[in-house]
Amino acid sequence: MKLLVTGGAGFIGSNFILYWLKKYPQDFVVNLDKLTYAGNLENLTSVQDNPNYKFIQGDICSLQVVSEVMQGVDTVVHFAAESHVDRSITDPASFVKTNVLGTQVLLGAALENKVKRFHHISTDEVYGSLNLDDKNIFNERTLYDPRSPYSASKAGSDHLVKAYYHTYNLPITISNCSNNFGPYQFPEKLIALAITNLLEGKKVPVYGDGLYVRDWLYVEDHCRAIDLILEKGKIGETYCVGGLTENLSNISILQKIIKLLGKTDESLEYVKDRPGHDRRYALDWSKIKSELGWEPLRDFDEWLEKTVNWYQENKQWWKNIKSGEYKEYYKKQYAKL
Ligand code: NAD
Ligand code: TYD
Repeated sequence: MKLLVTGGAGFIGSNFILYWLKKYPQDFVVNLDKLTYAGNLENLTSVQDNPNYKFIQGDICSLQVVSEVMQGVDTVVHFAAESHVDRSITDPASFVKTNVLGTQVLLGAALENKVKRFHHISTDEVYGSLNLDDKNIFNERTLYDPRSPYSASKAGSDHLVKAYYHTYNLPITISNCSNNFGPYQFPEKLIALAITNLLEGKKVPVYGDGLYVRDWLYVEDHCRAIDLILEKGKIGETYCVGGLTENLSNISILQKIIKLLGKTDESLEYVKDRPGHDRRYALDWSKIKSELGWEPLRDFDEWLEKTVNWYQENKQWWKNIKSGEYKEYYKKQYAKL
């Protein structure tokens, strides 16, 4: 089988390529990635000389690039996106371009080349924001209500994927997953930022009251879910994929990391809140569990400890990132820290 992975140099995409080539060494994987600030080929050094792996630097918005790369592809797994909410607040245009337009370019080329499956990676953020005491949590039937430029652009891409299924019979599946964490995450997202800041002896910025809630999914559990959807998922269907967390606030996560690293609450710095900050995401993943037999392999605390250990053992990986463009971003985003 020939797989096209878009955004395979990013956090989840690179974990997915490593997972896939280990489990299915006979498959051929093409990684199309523009290498924005978030793309990092160091994530993939262990497979770069594998004859069944090919990297192509290119933009999913370019019809010429995408048409060429799509030839002979059986399955597309589409990760490429602008993925960080804070950046979407300062630069919404690039989110619309890559996430909406780029997805449409890929869909068109996939249709033209008669791919057997187009799997689109989306987010639970398209469903909007829950109150802390809401009893009904997100599931596949929840109406879309995105509130940030990031989630609005991902919602747009989801609608296009469904439109290509209904209008042109493109064989699609979609997964809407919760917040991922694990190795190779760019240190702009909460868990990777917190661990690396603490390891550098810096403070961790806490937005607002810190009582915001997300559902947390370990990246390898996510890769297994995608694998199962590709194998057994029903064409045209959406699957919600979440983790084994229940209403864990940002503060409680940070306190767990602080404990694992032998630090104190002194390391927390409350900062100005994110505009339009979604209060809570919570995801019901019973459909993928009952229909495809998926569930996370371990609980959050075990995966978190493994993640903290990985960042401790791979300091050079994140130090390289934190010395580049990241510094400018950090200065602008966290002016007072
Ligand atoms: P990431 O930001 O780490 O990586 C994105 C990758 O896409 C990078 O390698 C980047 O270079 C590439 N890319 C960006 N624009 C491109 C373009 N125009 N053409 C080609 N490549 C381009 O993102 P991630 O955290 O790995 O997320 C992957 C996918 O999963 C995204 O679609 C995101 O919306 C979704 N998702 C992520 C999370 C999460 O917690 N990280 C949660 C839910 C859904
Ligand atoms: P983030 O990792 O940006 O993911 P998302 O906003 O897509 O859920 O943020 C996770 C939560 O952590 C969110 O409530 C915002 C909060 N947060 C902080 O408190 N401080 C930070 O420095 C960052 C990056 C996020």
